[in-house]
Amino acid sequence: MLGTDAGHPHHWKKKMARRRQIYEGKAKILYEGPEPGTLVQYFKDDATAFNNKKKGVIAGKGVINNRISEYLMTRLSEIGVPTHFVRRLNMREQLVREVEIIPVEVVVRNIVAGSLAVRLGMNEGTPLPRSIVEYYYKSDALNDPMITEEHITAFGWATPQELDDIMSMALRVNDFLSGLFLGVGIRLVDFKLEFGRLWEDDQMRIVLADEISPDSCRLWDMKTNEKMDKDRFRRDLGNVEEAYQEVARRLGILPESGPRDIKGPAVMQ
Ligand code: TMP
Ligand code: ASP
Repeated sequence: MLGTDAGHPHHWKKKMARRRQIYEGKAKILYEGPEPGTLVQYFKDDATAFNNKKKGVIAGKGVINNRISEYLMTRLSEIGVPTHFVRRLNMREQLVREVEIIPVEVVVRNIVAGSLAVRLGMNEGTPLPRSIVEYYYKSDALNDPMITEEHITAFGWATPQELDDIMSMALRVNDFLSGLFLGVGIRLVDFKLEFGRLWEDDQMRIVLADEISPDSCRLWDMKTNEKMDKDRFRRDLGNVEEAYQEVARRLGILPESGPRDIKGPAVMQ
């Protein structure tokens, strides 16, 4: 898969122009990275909801999510949460470590919203007595069914030890990000994390992967309860781009002029 073109500069040039695509998801594309064990994660403006039944484009989303995810992953690694993030490459791309994705979506909830509100007939906005961790099996064909620890270990998607690590990392991420967002006037209602296995020498460890962005979090303004996340797209609330930009602005990471490459490839930095 990771071929080398050393000694063939013409091939190398060609490859730089059209890199090998490893995987295309709904909102991101993964390309072969510049060195073995790395990937380039490209953020698209495409948005989907309800397992692809609703499709759209949020102009500039890829640029903003690239920045927000870079920022949050970097802050998390500073407090000792291992992540796949290496560095941002340009407006829409970041270099990440290649990991083996564990096929489980880990959702942490602080306030009732979304599918929990529907499933248990509770009002959105009800604070939970304590944070709740849920697991979903990553399968578009099955519509990401909810599962328990029992299923995860029984089917070998993760070992009990790995699941312990995942659960404690998810709760640490929740504590840290709740505080970080609180500091900029935003309530972290819930969010989804993905984890992967990273091999270093002969050691394997679990690291945070994928992205953390308004696509994968529910973020409510503390004063007005206004939604500042993908629910604006899911529920046709309007001002989707503006909401994503406002999250970035509050985190202090939006370039003054806003996301400049609304279309097309961007100038570096
Ligand atoms: P839910 O209430 O729809 O179960 O979503 C819980 C959280 O997980 C919410 O912050 C949105 C996020 N999420 C994803 O990132 N991807 C998904 O496919 C789904 C269903 C939710
Ligand atoms: N992104 C998921 C999908 O396309 C679900 C969601 O976030 O609502 O189905």
